[in-house]
Amino acid sequence: MELITKAPKGTVDIVPGVSEKWQAMEAVFQSEAELNGFREIRTPVFEHTELFLRSVGDTTDVVEKQMYTFEDKGGRSVTLRPEGTAGAVRAMLENGLYNAGYPVKLYYTTSCYRYEKPQAGRLRELHQFGVEMFGAAEPAADAQVIAMALSAFRRLGLEDVGLQLNSIGCPQCRKEYHKALKEYFTARKDQLCETCLSRLERNPMRILDCKSPVCSEIAKGAPKITDYLCEDCRAHFKQVQGYLTELGVEYELDPGLVRGLDYYTRTVFEFPSKSLGFALGGGGRYDGLVEEMGGKPTPGLGFGLGLDRILMALEAQKAEFPEPTRCEVYIASMGEAALKKALALTDALHKCGVPADCDLCARGLKAQMKYADKICARYTMVLGDNELQAGKADLKHMKTGQTKKISIGEGFVDDYLTASTAQEDLSF
Ligand code: HAM
Repeated sequence: MELITKAPKGTVDIVPGVSEKWQAMEAVFQSEAELNGFREIRTPVFEHTELFLRSVGDTTDVVEKQMYTFEDKGGRSVTLRPEGTAGAVRAMLENGLYNAGYPVKLYYTTSCYRYEKPQAGRLRELHQFGVEMFGAAEPAADAQVIAMALSAFRRLGLEDVGLQLNSIGCPQCRKEYHKALKEYFTARKDQLCETCLSRLERNPMRILDCKSPVCSEIAKGAPKITDYLCEDCRAHFKQVQGYLTELGVEYELDPGLVRGLDYYTRTVFEFPSKSLGFALGGGGRYDGLVEEMGGKPTPGLGFGLGLDRILMALEAQKAEFPEPTRCEVYIASMGEAALKKALALTDALHKCGVPADCDLCARGLKAQMKYADKICARYTMVLGDNELQAGKADLKHMKTGQTKKISIGEGFVDDYLTASTAQEDLSF
C-alpha cells in the first residue's frame, strides 16, 4: 500500500520546534485578552450551515466560494467554521452568557476552514486568535479592542504592523449608499465579473472587495461610504478616533475598507503587514448580528487575527522566541532493576517540576548518552548495579563535565536540587 505522507493542500503541521513558537504567541494574546477582562470560549469546529449563511452573509466570498459544507449521516447540512464570530454569537445566546452582565467579553484560539487557493499567507486550515464583546455600544469599546490587539503585537515584538480604520455606517445610512453604489456599478455593468453582476442587485457593497483585477480597478472609483454616514454614525466614528488618539494609537483612515463579511456596522479595521502585503487581522462592530441570529438587539464587536500570518511576520523579522522546555536530567540505566529505579527517580523529579527523562528504548549505555546529548540534557546520571548497591550515583553536568555524588534513595530530590543549584552557581 502506498504511504499517505502528504497533508491536504492548504494545511500545515505544527511540529515540535515550531509548536513552541505558537504556544508563546498564543500565550501573549491570551494574557492580553485576560488583562482586558476577556474569558475563553471554545465552540464546535462545525455548525449548522444556516448559521454562516445568516451571519457572514450569502453574497460574501466566504459563503459563496470558500465553505467546507457537507451533509452529515443524518442528512443535516453542516459547515466547518470559516471564522469564529458566528459560533461565538450562537454560543453566547444559547448559554445565556449575557446573564452575567454586559459587556460579555470572550476570546478564542481556533482553527478555521476556507476553501481558498493556497499561497503564501493563504491556507485552507488557518488559525485565528479572536475576541468578541457584546453589549457595549460605546466608542470606547472599539478603542479598547483595537488597542489591545496592538498591545499584544507590541509585546510580541512585531514591528511591521499598521492600523487601517473606517466606518461603514448602519443600515440607515447604508440605504442611500447602496443606491449610489448601484448607480455607479450599473453604469459599468458590462465590465463586471459574473459574481459581481449577481451582487449588484443583492448586495452592491460586496463588489468593493472582489479580487478580480477589473472589478477592483472599477471599485477604486466607487462612491465612498464615509460620504453617506448618518449623524450618529459620524459622531461615533469621530469618538472612536478621539479615544484611539488618547491611547496613543496611530491609525490611517481608509474610506475604501469595507471588510469581506456582511455583519459589520460602523467601525471596521484591519492590521496590515506592509512588507508581507496582507492583513494580519481585522475586525469591527456588528451591532445588528445578535438580533439577526434571534437574540435581543445587542451591540457587538471584535477582531480575528491570523496566527499563521503573524508567525510569518515574526519569522520574517527574525523575532526571538523563548527556548523550548529542555530536559534537565537524563537518567541512563543498565539492566532492568536500574531502569525501574530510573523511572521512579524521573517521576520524583517531575513531581517537583524538574523536566527529566530516562531510557524507554532498551538502548545500550553509549546510545543512551548520545540521546541525552541530542536532547541537550543539562545533567546525566548513570545507574547500574554498583549505584543501586551504594544508594548513590554521580550527577554529571554535561557542559562542564563536573560530577557530584548524590543519594538515589530517600534524599534524592533534595540532594539533586542542592547539587544542581551549586553547579549552576559555579558555572555562571
Ligand atoms: P477575516 O478578515 O475574514 O475576519 O479574518 C481575520 C484574519 O484571519 C485575516 O486578517 C487573516 O490574517 C486571517 N485569514 C483569513 N483567511 C485566511 C487564510 N485563508 N489563510 C490564512 N489566514 C487567513 C474574520 O474572520 C472575522 N470573524 C473577524 C472578526 C471577529 N470580526 C469581528 N469579530
